[in-house]
Amino acid sequence: MINGKREKIKKILSEPEFGKEVTVYGWIRTARFSKNVYFISINDGSCFDSLQLVIDDIESTPKNLLLTGATVKAVGKIVESPGNKQKCEMLVKSLEVIGKSDEKYPLQKKRHTLEFLRTMPHLRSRTNTLFAVFNIRNELARAVHNYFQNKGFLYLNSPILTKSDCEGAGEMFQVTTLKLDEIDKNANPLDYTKEFFKEPVNLTVSGQLEAEPYALSHGEVYTFGPTFRADPSTTPKHASEFWMIEPEMAFYDFEDLMILIEDFIKSVTRNVKDSCPSELAFFKKFINKELDKRYDAILNNKFEKITYTEAIDILRKSKKNFENEPVWGEDLFSEHERYLTDEYFKKPVFVTDYPSSFKAFYMRENEDGKTVACLDLLVPYVGEIITGSQREERYDVLKRKIEEKGMDENVYEWYLDIRKWGSAPHSGFGLGFERLIMYLTGMENIRDTIPYPRNKGKIY
Ligand code: 4AD
Ligand code: MG
Repeated sequence: MINGKREKIKKILSEPEFGKEVTVYGWIRTARFSKNVYFISINDGSCFDSLQLVIDDIESTPKNLLLTGATVKAVGKIVESPGNKQKCEMLVKSLEVIGKSDEKYPLQKKRHTLEFLRTMPHLRSRTNTLFAVFNIRNELARAVHNYFQNKGFLYLNSPILTKSDCEGAGEMFQVTTLKLDEIDKNANPLDYTKEFFKEPVNLTVSGQLEAEPYALSHGEVYTFGPTFRADPSTTPKHASEFWMIEPEMAFYDFEDLMILIEDFIKSVTRNVKDSCPSELAFFKKFINKELDKRYDAILNNKFEKITYTEAIDILRKSKKNFENEPVWGEDLFSEHERYLTDEYFKKPVFVTDYPSSFKAFYMRENEDGKTVACLDLLVPYVGEIITGSQREERYDVLKRKIEEKGMDENVYEWYLDIRKWGSAPHSGFGLGFERLIMYLTGMENIRDTIPYPRNKGKIY
């Protein structure tokens, strides 16, 4: 038995029992050797902080094996630490290296660039920065589930394989079992009878469409799963595989939707702030000195609300020299969003009621016939983290929109069905999980917030 007999460092550091002899296992983060005593600090994954091992029996300790990255088993007494860096340390009685390292181990003491670390996703979680990111990611996931579970939402596993293009942006990865070099390229149209599903199938870009029917059976539901986009942009905010949280609620109008989003974002942010003090202190020191301001902007502010039309007005009056002129009827560019959040409001902003011409078919048409009841939530420095809307629940309007946008009605028959039988006003939104992690950690590249990043031209 190993686990049953070991003490986790988290427990030792949070409730030190001075004088107690314990067994710990962990990986060497740093080693310091002086004449009469060795200090090694080990991390066992249970918490961000490491435990210092003090070895004074240096004769019987294999110094040459005490290398960064090596795995050790140590037995010793927990004692008060004379230094003020940590509360306690271990006075080692016996120490064994159970997993060797060597001088080729890529994560030696010096600090590495995030770009370099990205080339080794199998190792980088052992560095302070990435270790802390994945702790925050975990805490945020827990907070998301807790939030919705406490409100009685149903957790729904929406499918990964799908026939519908939710966003209609054509950024889908097609799934096939056919070998590309065996396909008859002259066949027009392609012969799908040889295909696994006998028709074209894609990886989902959003679980929303499949979640809506469940909102009309279970009332309030949410998905939390991977989504895939063959988006050619390789900006630091775009990944080809990312995770989305998509709640969908019956009997919620647009106002109810905004109230829920603000409460949800505030709640999970507070949760991370309260649960991860060591990680946040680290990010504040090494990644972003202004991190507190980001938490303040969410926790101590009412989110701003402006319509798209007002946003265009503010942008046009700003006298800023934008690369792209803000024009009513065209989507906002990220430079526009940045101006609104970073300079003008300096806090999260809902931009609502965009023109229907460039928005998805499922968004509910407003009285004016030109705009839709939708929103983007923009936050400083990261930009858009959420898109949501009241859904078009009127059968005739939805059918017309599907026709107008030139979509294949057969694919969306089931989606229309739920407007035919027992339709109800309902709303929902999608939060980009990694985008919120970027905001809450100060990490500037989405590739450093997901364990194994994928983006165009690069699968690590
Ligand atoms: O704005 P999007 O495309 O909206 C939807 O997919 C809706 N169906 C959501 C819904 O109403 N249920 O994507 C939602 C969010 C974005 O606001 C952004 O945070 C994130 O998903 N996102 C991405 N994150 C990383 N990489 C990408 N390529 C992303 N595309 C969208
Ligand atoms: Mg969007």
